[in-house]
Amino acid sequence: MNFLGMELNAYKEKQRRSHMQTKLTIQTRREIGTASPMIYGQFLEHFHRQVYGGVWEPGSPLSDADGFRKDVLDAMRAIHVPVIRWPGGCFVSAYHWVGGVTNPRQPYYDKAWRVEEPNDFGTDEYVALCRKIGAEPYICSNAGTGTSEETSDWVEYCNLDHEGPWAKLRRANGHEKPYGVKYWSIGNENYGAWEMGAKTETEWGRYVAETAKMMKRVDPTVELFAASIMDLSWNVNLLKEAGRYLDWISVHGYYGGTDQNNNYNGFERSMAQSLLPDRQLAHTRGILEATGYLGKLKIAFDEWNLKGWYHPNIMSGYATDPKDYILPRNGNDINSLYTMADAVFTGVFLNACLRNCDTVGMANFSPVVNTRGMIFTHKEGIVLRPSYYTFLLYTNHLQDVVVDGYLEQDAGFTALNVARDPVETFVPALDTVTTRSKDGTILAIGAANRDPENAQTLKIDLGRDESYASGTLYWIEADDKDAYNDIDRPDRVGIASRELPACTDFLSVEIPPHTVAVIELKKGDKA
Ligand code: AHR
Repeated sequence: MNFLGMELNAYKEKQRRSHMQTKLTIQTRREIGTASPMIYGQFLEHFHRQVYGGVWEPGSPLSDADGFRKDVLDAMRAIHVPVIRWPGGCFVSAYHWVGGVTNPRQPYYDKAWRVEEPNDFGTDEYVALCRKIGAEPYICSNAGTGTSEETSDWVEYCNLDHEGPWAKLRRANGHEKPYGVKYWSIGNENYGAWEMGAKTETEWGRYVAETAKMMKRVDPTVELFAASIMDLSWNVNLLKEAGRYLDWISVHGYYGGTDQNNNYNGFERSMAQSLLPDRQLAHTRGILEATGYLGKLKIAFDEWNLKGWYHPNIMSGYATDPKDYILPRNGNDINSLYTMADAVFTGVFLNACLRNCDTVGMANFSPVVNTRGMIFTHKEGIVLRPSYYTFLLYTNHLQDVVVDGYLEQDAGFTALNVARDPVETFVPALDTVTTRSKDGTILAIGAANRDPENAQTLKIDLGRDESYASGTLYWIEADDKDAYNDIDRPDRVGIASRELPACTDFLSVEIPPHTVAVIELKKGDKA
C-alpha cells in the first residue's frame, strides 16, 4: 500500500470518527431495580499472602492490637466493603472449622494448596475483621471432605446463644453474643475435578438438601447459597433436590490468564473478555427462568476477576519440589501485571451486575488483598492497584436505583479474545450504567471506555426538561493503558475530576481513553 493510500485511509478513519456520535438516552423513570450494595462485595481466601501478611499481620508496626493491618482496613473502609466471603475457594473443601477456634489452635496440612495451615486466623478473627470495617460475614462451608453435620455445627458456633457445645465454646472464647452470620454457602466449585471431594450432579443435589435442612434447623433465618455453574443440567438437579431451601446460587468467573501461566494478555484482548460477563448473566438468568426460580433465587457472582490466580502445578501435574509449586505463587505479586485493563474490566463487570440488579444480589471481587487483589501489601505499606480505583469511584458516587440508559455507538475496535481458539471480536468502546438517587436529585452514570487510545465524546439525552444545577466528571487518570502503581510509584494511577456545567435536556462529556469514569449530576434550587 503506498503512502497516499495510507494517508487516505487515516483521513477517512478520522472523518468517520468525527462524525461518529456515541449517544446515551436516559429514562430516569424506567427503573431496572435497586442495586444491592452487596454487588461491591469482596472475597478472602487462605491462599498465599491474602490472610497471613495480607489483612492480618500480628506484630507488624502497621497492625492494630488485634493483628489487623490498619492500612488495609482503612483502604477497605474507603470502598465501603459490604460483605467478605471467607475462608475459600478451594481451601474450604478440606477445611475443618473447629481447628480454627480451639485453644490451642490445630495446625494441619492444607491439601487444597499443599501448605501447612497454622489455623491462627479462624472464625473469631474473621468475624472481628468484618466488624472492624462494618462488613457482613459470608461463610463458605466445606462440602468436600466435610459433612452436613459439621457445617450445621459451624452455624451453631456462630448463631446459637448458648445451647449445645459449640455456642458454649464461642462463649468460652470470649464471644458471649452470637455472631448472627446470615450468609452461608454450601460448598465451593464442588462440580470441579480440581476440588477436594468433588461431587456428581446427583450427589450434589442430595448433599445440598441434607446440609441445608440441618443448617435451617439450627437457624431458620440464615440465607443459603449453593455452589453452582452456568449449566442447565447441573442446576436442574440441584434445584429439584434443594431449591426450596436456597436463597442464592453462586457462580464464578475468571477471564484472562490461567493458573498455569502468569501472562498478561494485554489491554485489547482483556477488553474482548469483558464482553463475557453480560452473556453469562443472561445465560444464568435463563437457567433460573427455565427452572422456575427466576425472582425466587438470586445470583451471587461470588468469585470474579479479570485474572485467574497464578498457582502452577497444583490443580494438575503435581510437582514434588515446593520450589515448583509454592515459589511461583510470588508471581502474583508483580504489580506491573495490574494495569488499566484490570480497572476497565472491573468497571464493565460491575456495570453488567448493576444492569442485572433485579437478579444479581451479590458479587465478590477475588481476592480483595494480594494475589490478584486490588490492595497489595508490603512491609512498609500498601499499593492500591488500578482496579481499587474503580471500586473507589463506584462505591462513593454511583447511586442505588438503576434506570434504563440506551447506548448507541459505532466506535470500537477488534481484538482476539482469550480462548483455546481465539477469534477476532468487535469491542464497542463504551460500556455504561445509569443510576439515580432514590429522591431523584442525583444522577450518576458509570462509563467504562475500553478504547486503548481514543477519548469518546458521550452525548447524553437526559430526558425532556430534566435539569441539573451542577456536575462533576470523575475518572481514573493513567498516562497509558498499561500504567500501574507500585511500591516506588504508588500514585501513577489515581482519581482525577473536573466540574461539569449546569445542563438541561442534553449534556456532552468527553470520556478519556482506557479508563472508568463517573458523571455525577446534581439537581439544585438554581435549576
Ligand atoms: O484460583 C483460585 C481458585 O479459583 C479459588 O480457590 C477457586 O474457588 C477458584 O477455582
